[in-house]
Amino acid sequence: MKWFSNRFKLVFLIVGVILLFVAAAALASPADAAKPSHLVSQSAPPDKPSNAYCLSCHSRSGMTKTLPNGEVLSLYIDPNLFDHSIHNQQNMDCVDCHTNISTFPHPDFKANSLRDVTLQLYGTCKNCHASEFNQTLNSVHQKALDAGNSNAAVCTDCHNPHQQTRLIDPQTGKLSQDARLEVPQTCARCHSTIYNTYKSSVHGAALTQYGNLDVPTCIDCHGVHNIQDPNSAQFRNAIPQLCAKCHTDPRIMNKYGISTQVLNTYVSDFHGTTVTLFEQVSPNTPTNKPVCTDCHGVHDISNVNNPATGIAIKQNLLVKCQRCHPNVTTANFTDAWMDHYVASPQKFALVYYVNLFYKFFIPLVIGGMLVFVVTDFIRRMAEARKGARH
Ligand code: HEC
Ligand code: HEC
Ligand code: HEC
Ligand code: HEC
Ligand code: HEC
Ligand code: HEC
Ligand code: HEC
Ligand code: HEC
Ligand code: HEC
Repeated sequence: MKWFSNRFKLVFLIVGVILLFVAAAALASPADAAKPSHLVSQSAPPDKPSNAYCLSCHSRSGMTKTLPNGEVLSLYIDPNLFDHSIHNQQNMDCVDCHTNISTFPHPDFKANSLRDVTLQLYGTCKNCHASEFNQTLNSVHQKALDAGNSNAAVCTDCHNPHQQTRLIDPQTGKLSQDARLEVPQTCARCHSTIYNTYKSSVHGAALTQYGNLDVPTCIDCHGVHNIQDPNSAQFRNAIPQLCAKCHTDPRIMNKYGISTQVLNTYVSDFHGTTVTLFEQVSPNTPTNKPVCTDCHGVHDISNVNNPATGIAIKQNLLVKCQRCHPNVTTANFTDAWMDHYVASPQKFALVYYVNLFYKFFIPLVIGGMLVFVVTDFIRRMAEARKGARH
């Protein structure tokens, strides 16, 4: 009997202890944020804190913190936008990124300015997106950052971590059409002058006014995470190929009635031949001959027939030639540019006939020589054999 009552006491004790633990855990759980903060903060939470816990404070609009330099940091996270973000949809929680925060009060966080907040927190992206992170390490933005320019773009300047939606279409594996339309605005946050120029160029106007996705956005020419110095020799020498990617593709160009001969006619022009050879021989020296952008412009490329800016108009083209040929003043100098058109009996008749002449003349001469050499050889052999028989 004594044994029985002792066992009873033990069971009671165990049940009691368990109940106590459950009660303590419930009190300490940060998932119930209505609890006064002094209770929450006393012991570490047993579970991963939920988004609801964090948002119980951070969804209060108007919640702010004044930083030492006087700037005001908004602590408001829009729960609606967060709901629709790719991270929430992939079941990423606040604390998957804010790995050092689990309760309130939060660990000490010293940031002097808004920029400081960003620079201290964006490193968390690396934990899950190592490949994008590593690509940025060698970019112009990282180099500017390392050189002390704290305004250079980091992950969160282009991707709001609390609002980012899917960019890559899972079906095609490519950038979705909506996201592609947005790209120039993303860069415009800091490169607004270039954006404004781009917006009125033949490419930019097509994209921003008509939603045309055949034209290049900033990243088609510059890349994304690994943007390189556009003033380098490699970049300059590769420009003809960059433009040719689209401008020699009949599937794109036929829609607009634009010639796809612009690369090969450029290469057969005296300037272009040199650039093409040059790129192969010394890729690390910038060519001093014109590449596409020296004549057409860069962010301000216009329709060639545009009366004000189009370079099919001699006077407009002359200005481009003068950058490297400062002493020429007559618009006729531009006639030395042979056009992108392939020579024909109608256009550049002389060039056409000279080409034609060489096309037949050279094979004829070489062919004739060959015939001569071969028949001569056979004759000599035959004579030698005859001589040996005698
Ligand atoms: C009880 C309210 C409350 C809860 C719950 C809360 N926060 Fe905060 N949070 C604040 C306040 C207040 C600040 C302002 C800075 C301070 O006083 O520490 C802040 C600041 C922040 C900051 C800015 C950096 C910093 O430390 O100042 C981040 C990031 C943050 N909270 C994330 C979270 C995450 C993630 C959670 C959930 C695990 C969370 N917060 C839960 C009230 C709360
Ligand atoms: C994908 C990672 C990620 C997730 C998920 C995330 N955050 Fe953040 N959060 C960041 C980064 C990075 C910053 C710094 C942003 C900046 O200022 O550039 C930040 C900043 C903050 C700030 C400071 C104010 C600000 O906007 O800079 C608060 C508050 C905050 N987060 C709360 C939350 C809460 C609450 C959740 C969950 C509902 C959450 N975060 C989810 C990465 C994340
Ligand atoms: C805890 C892991 C984690 C962290 C930290 C994280 N992400 Fe993500 N992120 C994901 C997952 C998972 C996806 C969904 C990927 C998918 O489905 O292909 C995603 C998707 C994205 C996408 C959309 C990709 C697409 O294919 O459309 C972007 C952009 C992105 N994250 C940026 C960031 C940035 C910027 C940060 C830092 C502020 C960050 N992420 C931090 C896990 C994370
Ligand atoms: C200068 C703006 C910019 C910066 C800085 C930036 N991104 Fe991106 N990111 C983009 C754009 C634009 C795209 C869509 C283009 C594409 O995918 O071809 C993109 C795409 C992505 C994707 C989708 C998958 C992919 O690789 O295309 C992820 C994930 C991503 N970025 C994460 C990051 C992370 C992490 C960082 C910081 C290390 C970062 N990004 C820095 C602009 C930026
Ligand atoms: C948060 C601001 C910010 C955003 C967003 C941003 N950049 Fe930058 N970018 C800078 C800063 C700062 C520099 C370095 C200063 C400079 O040389 O102009 C820089 C430099 C560059 C350079 C090199 C300029 C040079 O003369 O060497 C290129 C190219 C560039 N950015 C392209 C882009 C593209 C493309 C995007 C959009 C996908 C983008 N940037 C988005 C801030 C930004
Ligand atoms: C058709 C290709 C193309 C497009 C589209 C394009 N760029 Fe460029 N970008 C270039 C080239 C080529 C250069 C080199 C300029 C030169 O040779 O003077 C350059 C130069 C730059 C520079 C350095 C400027 C300087 O003066 O050093 C920045 C910054 C830049 N681009 C940003 C952008 C942004 C932002 C966009 C989108 C709004 C964009 N680019 C769109 C081809 C392009
Ligand atoms: C992503 C594809 C793409 C790239 C890369 C590209 N272009 Fe274009 N370009 C187009 C398309 C599409 C049009 C037609 C736009 C329209 O008419 O609405 C166009 C139009 C033009 C025109 C106007 C032709 C006319 O009708 O007068 C010129 C000039 C031009 N591009 C030059 C360039 C140069 C120079 C480069 C390289 C620096 C370049 N493009 C890079 C797609 C591209
Ligand atoms: C980016 C600089 C640049 C631009 C722009 C440029 N050229 Fe040239 N051009 C050169 C160089 C360099 C040479 C070689 C000069 C030499 O070898 O003496 C050259 C050579 C020539 C020659 C050969 C005769 C000579 O003086 O050696 C003619 C003709 C010529 N260019 C016409 C033009 C015309 C027409 C334009 C405008 C449509 C133009 N160039 C634009 C750099 C340029
Ligand atoms: C020396 C100056 C010069 C260079 C270099 C040059 N172009 Fe042109 N381009 C012109 C002129 C002038 C026109 C208008 C008259 C004509 O077609 O020749 C033109 C016309 C064009 C057109 C419109 C064709 C059409 O069918 O309406 C395109 C597209 C074009 N160029 C692209 C390029 C590309 C791509 C490169 C580099 C591979 C390049 N250009 C190099 C001067 C140049």
